[in-house]
Order: sequence, then C-alpha cells, then structure tokens
Amino acid sequence: MMKKKHGLTILKLGGSLITNKDRPLSPNFKAMRIAGRAICDALVENRKLKLFLIHGGGSFGHYYASMFHATTTPGRVASEGVSRVAQAMISLHSMILKELIDADVPCRTIAPGEFLTNPKGRVTRVGSNKISALLDIGCIPISFGDIVTSNRGTWIVSGDQIALSLAESIDVERVIFAMDVDGIFEDSKMKGSIISELNSRNQTLGTKRKFDVTGGIGSKIAIGFKLAKVGSDVYFVNGKKGERLQKLLSGNRVLSTHIVSKNISS
Ligand code: IPE
Repeated sequence: MMKKKHGLTILKLGGSLITNKDRPLSPNFKAMRIAGRAICDALVENRKLKLFLIHGGGSFGHYYASMFHATTTPGRVASEGVSRVAQAMISLHSMILKELIDADVPCRTIAPGEFLTNPKGRVTRVGSNKISALLDIGCIPISFGDIVTSNRGTWIVSGDQIALSLAESIDVERVIFAMDVDGIFEDSKMKGSIISELNSRNQTLGTKRKFDVTGGIGSKIAIGFKLAKVGSDVYFVNGKKGERLQKLLSGNRVLSTHIVSKNISS
C-alpha cells in the first residue's frame, strides 16, 4: 500500500514522564506543563510542524494492568481489571488533555480503536481521514496506550505500538520518545553516557521498571529499530528538559539518542 503523505512527527509522552512511575495513580503535572509549553513554543516557531501526540500509561494504566495480569498478548482478564485499566487511562488522558490545551496546544482525542483495525493492525481509511481532517483544521490528534477487548481476548496496546502502527501505514517522518532520562544509556543500569546514535552495533537491552507490563526500555528500543526500518527517524529525549524538547521538535540537534533511519537496513 502507498503510504499516504502526512509528513508527521509523532511525539510520545512516556508514562515515566507524565506520571510518577513508581507511585500508583500519581500524575506529574509539572512534567505535563513543561511538555505543553515546549510543544506550544515549537508550534509557534515552526508553523509547518505536523504533530501527532501519544501518551503512555505510567503508574495509571500499568498499575491496574499488572494488578489484573493484563499483558500485550490477548488473554483472559477479569472484567473489573478491564474497567479499572480503561478508567485509569481515561482519567490520566483527561489530565494531560487539560494541561496541553491550557498551554495553548490545541489537541483532540482519537482513541486507538478509532483509527486502528486492531491493536497491532494498520490505520484504517476512516482513521487516516480523521487524522487528516484534524490536522487540516490545526488540531493535533492525541491518542494513548489502552486496554482492548475483542473476540480474541483482552490485551494492552502500548503507545509505542500505536506509533509503529501509524508509521507502518502513513508517512511518519520522525518519532520522538519523551522520557524522564536524557536518552539511552551505554550501560544497561542507566549509568554512564548517553548513546548519541543507536544502531545495530551498539544495541543495549535497557532496564524494566516496577508495574511495567509493556516491557520497558528494551522493547522501546526494539520498536525504535522497527520504526527506523519503515522510514522514520527516531529520537529518545528527556521531556523534563523543556528547551531540549522544543529544540528537537523544531528540528535542532540536542542531547538525545537518535536512530537514523537511513543507517538501518530495511
Ligand atoms: C501502556 O502504554 C498503556 C496501559 C498500561 C493501559 P505504554 O506502554 O505506552 O505506557 P508507558 O509509556 O510505558 O508508561
């Protein structure tokens, strides 16, 4: 299928950034505000910037997902678990939405089920049209990792997976993962220096945190390589450093880890 031209930048606001990841149900409003200001400033600086926002679950979605044993593989999850995870995500989503809109970032929710055939699926024609229509009126589509139930069972779709589904279907120039650390560390214990360009020779496994049902940094890096293979440049940056995030969104070089798409063979 020909990729439809959108020329998008996807910005994933990681759960580790927008929540206090090791404290259940604890939002990090300061980080949400810093990200909101950075996005607003980048939009003012570059009026051509076409953004798609995604956020993760952090200590909201992951907390209940791990309590009720929901994973990224379809399976049986108690109905209370389905309700709790979904409600926690809607509640976190509503907080981030308010902070972004208050920071003059005009965004509009588009839940994964509105544009993906299934969590690991492709973007539907209807979904692609919805995304285009929002972008055309200057509204930034915003989605989030979620819990999904179908006749195959119940599972978690991560925000990273949503980014990959988008990049496989439509033209995504860049995917920026905003995290609570400066990038990918050389050392898997998150010490030492930050890898500036990640490629198949210096791949690292990363670490996993408490309540993380979608795999932590290791699977994020794996998705990063898949994104690069389908043609998107990938960046891992510290979202708590607003100026860095803003400069990166505006196309400047900043301290971050970059996976250069053209250096990764497809
Ligand atoms: C997880 O999304 C969503 C749920 C647990 C429902 P992500 O896997 O993208 O979340 P973070 O960024 O790792 O917290």
